[in-house]
Amino acid sequence: MSDKHLNKKHLNKEFLHKELLHKELLNKDQAASSNIAVAYVHSSDSEQAKRIAKKWHLPYLGDSKAAAKQANLRFLLQVNEQYLELCKLDEPKLGAISVDFVDGAVAHRRKFGGGRGQDIAKAIGLKHGFRPHVLDATAGLGRDSFLLASLGCQVTMMERMPIVAALLDDGLARAQLNSEVADIANNMALIYASSLDNMALAAQPDIVYLDPMYPHREKSALVKKEMRVFQSLVGEDLDADNLLAPALKLAKYRVVVKRPNYAPPLADKKPSMSIKMKKNRFDVYVNLAIPKE
Ligand SMILES: C[S@@+](CC[C@H](N)C(=O)[O-])C[C@H]1O[C@@H](n2cnc3c(N)ncnc32)[C@H](O)[C@@H]1O
Repeated sequence: MSDKHLNKKHLNKEFLHKELLHKELLNKDQAASSNIAVAYVHSSDSEQAKRIAKKWHLPYLGDSKAAAKQANLRFLLQVNEQYLELCKLDEPKLGAISVDFVDGAVAHRRKFGGGRGQDIAKAIGLKHGFRPHVLDATAGLGRDSFLLASLGCQVTMMERMPIVAALLDDGLARAQLNSEVADIANNMALIYASSLDNMALAAQPDIVYLDPMYPHREKSALVKKEMRVFQSLVGEDLDADNLLAPALKLAKYRVVVKRPNYAPPLADKKPSMSIKMKKNRFDVYVNLAIPKE
């Protein structure tokens, strides 16, 4: 595994590189970013909202109340008492989503989810004290990444949508300031880039983890409100099949893909083994056996 500090230095350089990648990323995100703006709920959060708009190249709206007058806006990224939240303006009842590694579902899963006995830990291969460097190449809201980091992995997250990356960046920054989870958050780094072409920016991952968006079968009423906001923003990752080959090339030990049970394997490639759960499964592609320490 690469040295944590070296890796952090390396990631700082990558942040500059990320700015260059922004143009390429805009293509996928253009539709979403043209109907989204950044705002504040209380004027005390206005500086933070301005900084976020500038950092992620998103339009700055000012007071969130102004959103009501903007007919073309679909989403609002608002700073609310230092939390960055995403709201779907045409369905306000769905509520706002944010990345919160300190409280809520993610914290609950960390405390009561079953530790290294969980299916995701088995799929990654976290037995015999193995503490791998995992590249989560489809980071999303970082829930799986945080869980893996809490189980002792060093995690590099890659996310291509600026709105999602902004939420993740905000959640990570708050977690780094919280004494209960700072050690976990300090083992996580975010690269804002598309992993289709930039996977190798993550230095020598032991494991590559993939969880691309797949069309949901459940009727939308059954999908949790939070997921409905997220799904309507991200859509489907129709190019996900193309992630498997670079992942297999880069991962030292294995590639793990999370799929709904009804979905075919990624790129129709049969995995070495699968771990089945109630609604999803982990397809595991083994490159090399995990060492028994
Ligand atoms: C289903 S979500 C992942 C959820 C995540 N596992 C979690 O626990 O929160 C899929 C995410 O992968 C991102 N994504 C898809 N393809 C990507 C790519 N080629 N590079 C970077 N991010 C990608 C999407 O933008 C989306 O945010």
